[in-house]
Amino acid sequence: MSVLRVLKEAVMYTTSIDLPKAIRDQVVPLLQAHLADAVDLFTQVQQAHWNVKGPNFIALHELFDKIAEIVEDYSDLLAERLTALGARADGTARVSANRSRIQEYPFDIAAGRDHVAAIVARRSTAPISSAMPTPRTSSRRSLARSTSSSGSSRRTCKPRTERIGQ
Ligand SMILES: [Fe+2]
Repeated sequence: MSVLRVLKEAVMYTTSIDLPKAIRDQVVPLLQAHLADAVDLFTQVQQAHWNVKGPNFIALHELFDKIAEIVEDYSDLLAERLTALGARADGTARVSANRSRIQEYPFDIAAGRDHVAAIVARRSTAPISSAMPTPRTSSRRSLARSTSSSGSSRRTCKPRTERIGQ
């Protein structure tokens, strides 16, 4: 049985939340869809972060890193809402890629302006909207980042100097 066929079976655990099951049955598929989009978007922003080239490399490299961190926080928020509603959060890369409504990221681009355009195009269809609450900054993951031994964000990277100016 394929992974996706298994995932089509609705999984609802017993919960003490007082939201009627009929409402949860409507909300859960929406959250699952947005979770898939968010996980896919995270990997696409990482693609831009890793592959951007040009005179604005360092600024865009760091910008994409920050965007990826924000998107990751949203995916965490979505997944935790799913489980709070008694559902299972299906957020693996494989499942997310199959369910995502976002177009595949272009692999034939390198220039900064092209990566910015690609990310902006995805932002317009991404699950993040003003209707969504701001992710908690004190989440377990954020807390782990802020208290890491290096004192820096988990994904903050220091690019090799020879890459600057590519
Ligand atoms: Fe990085």
